[in-house]
Parts: sequence; C-alpha cells; structure tokens
Amino acid sequence: MRLILHGGAGPWEKDNHPQVLDGMKRALIAGWEVLRGGGSALSAVEQATIILEDHPLFDAGFGSFLNDMGEVEMDALITDGRNRDFGAIAAVMQVKNPITLARLIMQNSGHRFFVGAGAEKLAVDYGLRLVPNVSLVTEEEFIAFQHRLTNADAVIPPGRGTVGAVALDSVGHIASATSTGGSPHKKKGRVGDVPIYGAGGYSDDRYGGASSTGLGENIMRHVLSKQVVDRIAAGVSATEAAVSAAEEVAAHIPDPEVGVIALDADGRLGASHTTAHMPIAWIDAAGDLHTAMTGPYPLEA
Ligand code: GLY
Repeated sequence: MRLILHGGAGPWEKDNHPQVLDGMKRALIAGWEVLRGGGSALSAVEQATIILEDHPLFDAGFGSFLNDMGEVEMDALITDGRNRDFGAIAAVMQVKNPITLARLIMQNSGHRFFVGAGAEKLAVDYGLRLVPNVSLVTEEEFIAFQHRLTNADAVIPPGRGTVGAVALDSVGHIASATSTGGSPHKKKGRVGDVPIYGAGGYSDDRYGGASSTGLGENIMRHVLSKQVVDRIAAGVSATEAAVSAAEEVAAHIPDPEVGVIALDADGRLGASHTTAHMPIAWIDAAGDLHTAMTGPYPLEA
C-alpha cells in the first residue's frame, strides 16, 4: 500500500508553510487510515482530497481562487486504474466536495464528464447537498479579489494549491484524484487541466498513476499525467518519469509552472515540479509519514 499527495505547485508564502504541511499531513493520515483498514485506492484518494478541499489554504473546494466575476468555479477528476476509468466535473459552483461528485458520476451516471448546472443537478440526484457559492469563499480570497478589481495594476499571482492524490491499495489497485478552483482571476467558464483525463490525472493498475498541478494550459498541452505513466510503462522509475516529463514541458514552454506526483505498480514514488514549491506528503516503504515543501524529494528511505 502506498499513498502520495500534492498540495499544488507554485510559490507558497513562507509564513504558510507550517499550516500547509500540517494540512497535508492530516489528509495523508485520513487516506492512509482508509488503506490500512482494507479500503480501496479510490476511497483513499477521495478521502485525502476531501480533507484538502475543506482546508482554506488550498485552491480546491473551500478556499478556491475566485474567477473574474468573484465566484468559485471548481473542476475535479478521479481515475480508477482497474479498468482505466474516470469521472470528471468542471465549472461547478455549489458542491462542497467536487471529488465526491466526480466519483459518483464515474460509478453511477453511465457517462464520465459533466459541467456546470448539469453536474450540480446530478449532485442533488445523488443526495449531495448544494451549498451557496459564497460559503466556499475565504475572507483572504475575497480581499485579494477586491484588490484586483480596484487596482488596475494589481499583479495576479501565479496559481498554487490545486490538490491531488495517488494511491496503491492492498490488492494492487491504483487510483488518482485531483481537485481545483483553477487559476486566480480566471475568466468565467475557463477550465484547466484538472478534469481532462490524462492531463490532470491518470492511473492504470499495470503501470502506475499520476496527478498533476500547476498552470493547466501547459499541463493540457502535454497531457502530463499520462506522459508520466507512459514513461513508467516504458520501464523508467516513477521519479525519473516525473522528472523527465516535467523537464519535457519546460523544454517546450519556458517556465511552465507545472508539477506532478506519481507511483508505480510496485509502490515506488516520484514527484517533480518546475515551481518554487510543491508541498507533498507521502508514506514510505517502511510505512513512515513524510512531508516536504519543495523537491528534489528524498521519497524513499
Ligand atoms: N491546474 C489547475 C488549473 O490550471 O486549473
């Protein structure tokens, strides 16, 4: 069993590092408890992601960046490596935990990808309670949005804080989960990489799984998560796969602001980022818990 999480590639203010790592640790423990209890990789990545969606410092669920209309618009993807399956949602505005809706869609809808009002109608059909958009807005994000509105020369910060998880369970199944509020001050209706199968996440029990983070436009162009799993399938380690796939994006796009986490079918872990930070949390081969704000990461003991 293995579990690795990211909390979003980007520049994280130093003052926030202890709280970010504490949130990552809590999410890791929640996901790990699922795996230790015999739960599935799917349930582990969902549970870990819910903790990060509910945490105000991460750009997912509560605490998401606001779009240019001052609204939270969220995207999420869950992937199931048993049969290369996925569920995805985009531009949802009233769902507290988008990753749960993505899983319900994969397992119940007969379809795979829903957007906006249609996704929210399904949420109600599946018994999820819709929440007011404003209940997902933190005071910090509201102040930042107002500052951008009233200051024409306000700098829109690079994104950070998309969350993701990849797990290998006790019976060898692999799953990934990725959830985001998208980039700061994005145009209403803009959708990034996260819900795009193979870009925001990917898993295949035969080889491994990955979850990406960073500037979605660049991740989509390189189908980053699938790139990483394809490299593992070709025989390289999860670390080499993550590093070389991120390097390839950087070779084509200067300063691409991307990051990715991965694990292979034997549970070996990998992670890489081109940004100042990418908080990650992972359980090593000995079952010990680790967190770090930036790579290169000593992922294996
Ligand atoms: N990676 C998140 C986004 O660009 O929307």
